Amino acid sequence: MSSLTGTPADADRALKAKHRSMWALGDYPGLADDLLQELGRTLVQASAVAPGERVLDVGAGSGNAAIPAAEAGATVVASDLTPELFEVGRRHAAERGVELQWREADAEALPFADGEFDVVLSSIGVMFAPHHQAAADELVRVARPGGRIGLLSWTPEGFIGQLFATMKPFAPPPPPGAQPAPLWGDEDHVRELLGPRVTDVTTRRKLLTVDHFATPEDFRDYFKARYGPTMAVYRFLSDEPEKTAALDRDLADLARRYDLGTDGTVLEWEYLLLTARRSAEVPAPR
Ligand SMILES: C[S@@+](CC[C@H](N)C(=O)[O-])C[C@H]1O[C@@H](n2cnc3c(N)ncnc32)[C@H](O)[C@@H]1O
Repeated sequence: MSSLTGTPADADRALKAKHRSMWALGDYPGLADDLLQELGRTLVQASAVAPGERVLDVGAGSGNAAIPAAEAGATVVASDLTPELFEVGRRHAAERGVELQWREADAEALPFADGEFDVVLSSIGVMFAPHHQAAADELVRVARPGGRIGLLSWTPEGFIGQLFATMKPFAPPPPPGAQPAPLWGDEDHVRELLGPRVTDVTTRRKLLTVDHFATPEDFRDYFKARYGPTMAVYRFLSDEPEKTAALDRDLADLARRYDLGTDGTVLEWEYLLLTARRSAEVPAPR
C-alpha cells in the first residue's frame, strides 16, 4: 500500500524509511569525525554526565555524544533511526575502550520506559525528527523526574540552518505536518515544546569553528559527497542540470558569505546548547 492511500501510520513509516536511507547515504560518520567531534564532548560536559548515570543519546548517529558520555563513566544507550551508522560507532567505542548499547529507535516513539534515564541527550539528532512535539514529549517521558535533558541544535540563522534554507528551493516539498529541523535551534520554540514539564532551563548560543576546507567549493564538494540531506537534494535534481548547477553555485556562495579565513576557508557554525531538568512533579500531558 502506498503512503498516499494507506493509514497515517503507513505514511509515517514510509517517511521514516526515507529519512533512514537519507542518513545512511554518503559518509555521515566520517563527516562527524572530521568536523563535529567537539559537539558531542561539549554536550556531555554541559549536561554534567557523571559516572554510574544511565544516559540515553537520541539520534546518536555514530556516537558523537554517546561515546564521550560512556567515557565519563555513564551507562549509555545510543539510539538512532539509522542503525547503519552504528557499525562505525561500535568500532570507535572499542578503540576508546568503552561499551555501550546501540538501539534502533525513532525519537518520536522511543522504546523505553517512563523515567528510565538520569540524562537524555541529543546532539544535532532529535532536531531531525519531523514532528517536534511528539519528539519533545518522548525526551521528557523517558527522563526520570529530576533528571536532565541536554540538547545541542543548529540555529536557523547559523551556517547549517542557512545550508538547509539554501537547499530548500531545490528540494521536494516536505510532507504535511513535517517541521523544519533548525527550529530546534530557536530557544523559544524548544521552551514551548518542553513546556512546564521542565525547570532550570539554560541556553547558550555557541560557535563551532570549521577550518577543514581549503575553499568554499571544497566545502560544497565535501557535503555533496558525504552529507545525506545534501546528497538527497542532488539526487532529486539528477535530471535537471541547470538546477544542479544553480545549487552548486548557491552552496559555494553560502560558504563564501560565511568565510572568515585569509589562508583557507574558516567557517563558524552556530548552535544552541540547552540544558533542563525534568520537573519532579510532571503536569498531565497537554
Ligand atoms: C546530524 S546526525 C547527528 C548524529 C550524532 N548525534 C552527531 O552528533 O554526530 C542526525 C541523526 O539523527 C538521526 N535521526 C533522524 N531522524 C530521526 C528520528 N526520527 N529518530 C531518531 N533519530 C533520527 C539520523 O539517523 C542521524 O543519525
